[in-house]
Amino acid sequence: MMSQIPYEAIGGEKTLRKLVAAFYSRVAKDPLLSPIFPEDLALTEQKQFMFLTQFLGGEALYSNAYGHPMMRARHMKFQVTPKRAERWLALMKEAMDEIGMEGPARQYMYERLIQVAHHMVNTPDDET
Ligand code: HEM
Repeated sequence: MMSQIPYEAIGGEKTLRKLVAAFYSRVAKDPLLSPIFPEDLALTEQKQFMFLTQFLGGEALYSNAYGHPMMRARHMKFQVTPKRAERWLALMKEAMDEIGMEGPARQYMYERLIQVAHHMVNTPDDET
């Protein structure tokens, strides 16, 4: 893996397309997450595909389209609680399992997502 950028190591566009599809179909059904997401998740899924591409060292698709990611700021209008962050990560893990991601590249990606998810928390659990 280390001779490749993480984007290539995980399988590039093909893997990320499958991953975001598997992830947002879970979000849509999740009682803790679905209330804060739009009903139509098509654009959200596309933005996440673009963001994850650049997050893993691929083309800067998200920034080219939407500007600086500023992910924490973009999440401030939603109540991101510790419980929601843990659920987000749990659904991502399930999505990775579903599409058959494995090995060090998956582990590397997941560990970085844990950090970002925790950084996104902006509301205590007892305020929702
Ligand atoms: C957008 C929730 C973590 C990346 C959103 C939206 C919600 C949300 C409600 C708005 C959807 C929309 O209007 O299209 C959460 C929650 C998280 C979380 C509850 C739990 C920690 C993350 C993480 C990442 C991420 C870890 C990155 C790895 C994004 C991106 C968008 C987004 C790229 C689209 C931003 C835009 O509108 O341009 N998230 N998110 N989120 N989230 Fe998260």
